[in-house]
Order: sequence, then C-alpha cells, then structure tokens
Amino acid sequence: MATDAGNPIPRFPAGFLWGVSTSAHQIEGAAGEREPSVWDAFTAGPGRVKDGSTAEVACDHYHRYREDVALLAGLGVDAYRFSISWPRVNSPGGLDFYDRLVDELCAAGVRPVPTLFHWDLPAALDWLERDTASRFAEYVSVVAERLGDRVTKWITLNEPAEHTLLGHALGVHAPGRKLLFDALPVAHHQLLAHGLAVRALRAAGASDIGIANSHGPTWPASKESADTEAADFYDVLLNRLFAEPLILGEYPSGLGELMPGDVTADLKVISEPIDWYGVNYYAPTKVGAPQGTEIEFGGITMPAELPFSVRDVEGRPVTDFGWPIVPEGLTELLTGFRDRYGDRLPPIVITENGCSYEGIDDQDRIAYLDGHVRALHRAVEAGVDVRGYFVWSLLDNFEWAEGYARRFGLVHVDYSTLERTPKASYGWFRELLRAQR
Ligand code: FCB
Repeated sequence: MATDAGNPIPRFPAGFLWGVSTSAHQIEGAAGEREPSVWDAFTAGPGRVKDGSTAEVACDHYHRYREDVALLAGLGVDAYRFSISWPRVNSPGGLDFYDRLVDELCAAGVRPVPTLFHWDLPAALDWLERDTASRFAEYVSVVAERLGDRVTKWITLNEPAEHTLLGHALGVHAPGRKLLFDALPVAHHQLLAHGLAVRALRAAGASDIGIANSHGPTWPASKESADTEAADFYDVLLNRLFAEPLILGEYPSGLGELMPGDVTADLKVISEPIDWYGVNYYAPTKVGAPQGTEIEFGGITMPAELPFSVRDVEGRPVTDFGWPIVPEGLTELLTGFRDRYGDRLPPIVITENGCSYEGIDDQDRIAYLDGHVRALHRAVEAGVDVRGYFVWSLLDNFEWAEGYARRFGLVHVDYSTLERTPKASYGWFRELLRAQR
C-alpha cells in the first residue's frame, strides 16, 4: 500500500474534530447489571459467535471507565464516541453510569459524543414493530434530560443498514432472523426512530445531531449489464436506502412502496434536519450478477436468492479480517456523495474507520490509518465539507459474530487480565493529533 510515509499528513481545517469510537455492548461487560439485550439472547445460541465467546465481561469498561478515559486523555483526542446501552438505561442505576462517564470525560477535556443505539436492543423489543420507534424516542428523551447539560453532540443510530441486513435479513447478527427482503420494515422503523429521536433531542435543547451510517463505494464486477445492474441494486441497499430518506425525504428506487405504514407522513419525520452526517467507512464492495448458489463471503453466508453476489476486490492487500485496503475508496465515496446530493448533503463526520490486526507493534494499522487520513484530506481538498474523523476503535473489543478474534483497538486488551497496553498506532495517532494542533 502507498502510504506517503515520511511526508507529514496535511493540516485539516480549523475546528476539525479528532476522536475514537467504541460501543457499549462491545466494551462494557457487566451484563448482569442490566436487563438483557437481543445480543445476549443471540450469543447464547450455539454456533453464533465464532470463538464461542460472549460480551458478559468484554473489556469490563463498566468498571474500568476511569482508566479508559485516562487513555483517551493521554491520546489527546478532542472527542470520544461511545454508545449508551438502552437495556442499561432501563435498569436501576444504569443512567448513573453514563452520568459518571460523561463527568469523567468532561473533567479530562474530552468531548462526549454518545450514540443512542448501537444494536443492543432490549430483548423484549423488536424492530419489526412500529411501536419500537416511539419507545426509542421516549428513551432518548430520558437520556437527553439527564445528560444534555454536558453532552452537546449526539448520534441517533449506528449503521441501521448492517443491523437490518446482518441481523434481520441474513441472520448472522442479533436477533438472528433470516427474513431477506421481508426485513425492510426493520429499516423503516429504525429510520422512523431516528427522526423521532431528532425531535426528542431538539425538544430537550440539543443542537448538534447526526447519525452514523455505513457506506462504501460499490464496484461492479464487470461492465456487463447483469453486473452493473446487480451493483446498482446493492448500492441502493447500502448507500442510498438509509441516506436518501434523511437527506432528500424520499426512498430510492421505489422502495417506499414496500415499507409499512403511512410512508409519506413518516418521511416528514425521517427527514427532520440533522446537523451533520456520520459515515463509517471500511472498504469498497465488488458486486456482480447472482451466481445461483449460496456464497460465503467474509464469514457471511449469502443465500442464492439474492439479486446480487459479492466478489473479492482483487489485487489489494487485506486486513486480518480479509477486508481489502482501499484508502482512495473513501475519497471516491465522499466526492460521490457531494456530487449526488449537492447542497443538500449535511457536513460529513467520519464516525468510524479502522482495521483488524494482531499485535502491539501494529505497523499495518498505522499504514492503514495514515492512508485513510490522507484520502480524507483529498476529499476536503476536493471541496467536501468534512468536520471530523473517529478511529474505530479505542480498545480491542467484542467484534460481534467474530467474538474476540478481531482486534481493532489502538489499545490492546489482554482478555485474561483485562490489562490495557497502548499499541504503536496509539502513539502514531497521538503524534498526528499534536501535529494538527
Ligand atoms: C462496524 C460497527 C462497529 C464495529 C466495526 C468493525 O460495522 O459499527 O461496531 O464492529 O464495524
């Protein structure tokens, strides 16, 4: 991979927000001190998580948050993106934990940026039910009332696309449903929940609200129409289905007709203006015509009925997870968004970007991040309004169906002792932040 190593990373605009991200289920542990989520129920089933692990202890961040905030302060980030566990807020003392965490962050000079939903739905709820969107807004109001005096930047949802696709269409994430296109109501109800949450946050006085959606360029496997059509379809699902209702107030490609309820009225709620748009970027996807057989891709079984097939991005190095490393895909994605949505595109924040590698002297991660930060700067030079960049992740953590086998952290976690050890990439990011001041 070309890294420009040796040349300093160009300066980002004044006020650019540098941070790192985590999520509650992946780091908190202390599962016995909250009500169960769909992830606890899913993980309990056989063969769901590759290494057979659970998130019961994870990084034990719930008990070690002070140490983790000290790591953030040592890193010198402006902001910390974490998520609030709805099941914990529903449990006695749960909101007190986030109150303490936010106080600790503020005292350390790190701006708290909570995500209100990062996949750990209370086990008693179901996104197939419209009412879950209203319940979400009620929970958001409770959190905003309690933390809104210190939290000034909010994220409604994390990657509703993955939660719909992996959790409800393909069944490899919680709650483990394999509904294929019957999962579309899950998309609509999350989007509705987002819009209702924006309203609830505004009512509580919040003024800096975004979402974290996953995106990546979709590359057709060839110029043949069967491949380009399949790639366009995939692009609608990944890049447009969760962006256009928010940004344009409409569903792409007639998908609105497949959604439940009064879709026209709901789109007014869903398109409630946001202040910025969060993008989680990891890699592009190559997509071709269906191959008529089940396909194993990145640990995910894709059934033969899907109207597309995901292929390898060839000729690229890959991370330990097997994800191709394509920094310029980030520039392509952001300039493509700007070209497609023009002035209607809110300012962009990269809410996740990172890679899975073993080891504490993680030069590969440094090369990955270096390449992506430079690619992001090229998008800025091309005129895209980008306001921030968050590395996934502060700590190695519970990587969903992959368990603890994938290490995304700038800080290594020894899962037997829970000892934290900053990796080489932690030092690299700290120096980058210093140079940007
Ligand atoms: C994203 C998720 C995040 C983490 C990274 C690797 O899809 O939002 O929780 O698992 O991938």
